[in-house]
Amino acid sequence: MVKRLKELLSPIIGVDAAASVIASYDVIGDIAIIKVPEQAFEYRQAVGSAIMNDNKSIKSVWAQVSPVQGEYRIRELANIAGEDRSVTVHRESGCTFNLDVREVYFSPRLSHERERIASLVGEGERVFNMFAGVGAFSIVIAKRVNNVKVYSAEINEAAYRYMLMNIEQNKLKSTVIPILDDARNVAARLRHGVDRVLMPLPERAMEYYEDAIASLDGGGWIHLYLHVKRSRGEDIIYLTKDRLKPYGGSVESYRIVREVGPSTLQLVFDIKFNSI
Ligand SMILES: C[S@@+](CC[C@H](N)C(=O)[O-])C[C@H]1O[C@@H](n2cnc3c(N)ncnc32)[C@H](O)[C@@H]1O
Repeated sequence: MVKRLKELLSPIIGVDAAASVIASYDVIGDIAIIKVPEQAFEYRQAVGSAIMNDNKSIKSVWAQVSPVQGEYRIRELANIAGEDRSVTVHRESGCTFNLDVREVYFSPRLSHERERIASLVGEGERVFNMFAGVGAFSIVIAKRVNNVKVYSAEINEAAYRYMLMNIEQNKLKSTVIPILDDARNVAARLRHGVDRVLMPLPERAMEYYEDAIASLDGGGWIHLYLHVKRSRGEDIIYLTKDRLKPYGGSVESYRIVREVGPSTLQLVFDIKFNSI
C-alpha cells in the first residue's frame, strides 16, 4: 500500500508530501481515514482506490477535510472510495468499540496509551474518565483490572450512545458507569470520591485541572494530557512542570503520546497527589 500510494502521489505532490499523506492514514474498524493535501485533492479517488486495493479489509475510505475541532473534537470527512458508510466496529486490546467516525472522536493511535494507563490501575480502584468519548480508555481499563469502577463523563450525546452500546457489548455494565454530563458537574458530584482521574482532552484539560484534583479522595493520580508547542531553546517539560507547581502534586513521569502538528506535541503527565 505504502509503495503504491507513494508511486501514485510522489509525481503529483512531491516525495515529502506523499510520505506525510501516507503517515496520516488511520484505520478504524473497516474504515480508512486519510488527510489528502489540497494539491492532491483532485486525485482523492485514486488515493482511496489504492488504499482499498491493497487492504481488502477496508470497505470505505474518507478524506479528512477539516481539523479535529469544536467541543466534541470531531472532524469533517468526505467519502472518497468504497461504501458511503461512517459507522464501524473497531477491535483493540480484546475490546470492541462501535462508533460513527463522523459523529464522535476516536483515534486508533491512542491504543498504546490506553494499554499503558490500564497497566497502572490497581485492583479495586475508583477511576474518573472526565472526557470519555465512546468509552475507549474506560473499557480497556475495566477489561484489564478486577473490581474497578470507571465513572465516564461525556457531553456529546452521540458518543454517549455509542459508549452505552460498547459497555453492553464488552459486558462491563457494573464496572463502567456512563454519565451524559459536563465533566465539571460530574467532578462536583464525585468530590473526594476517586483514586485516579484521566483527562484526555489536551486542548482544554488545564481548565478542568482543579476539578480533577478536587475529585481525588485525599490522594491519587491524575493523567493530564496537554498539547505543548515546541519552540527552539525552550525546555517544554521544565516549563510545563513549573506551570503545574502551584496546584501541588508531583509529576512522577511524562511521555510524548504523539506529534499532532509540525511543532506541537501531545504529552501526558502522570501526577501523584499524596493524601493529607
Ligand atoms: C479528545 S476526545 C477523547 C475521547 C476518548 N477519551 C478517546 O480517547 O477516544 C475528548 C472527548 O471529550 C468530550 N468533551 C469535551 N468537553 C467535555 C466536557 N466538558 N465534559 C465531558 N466531556 C467533554 C468530547 O465530546 C470528546 O468526546
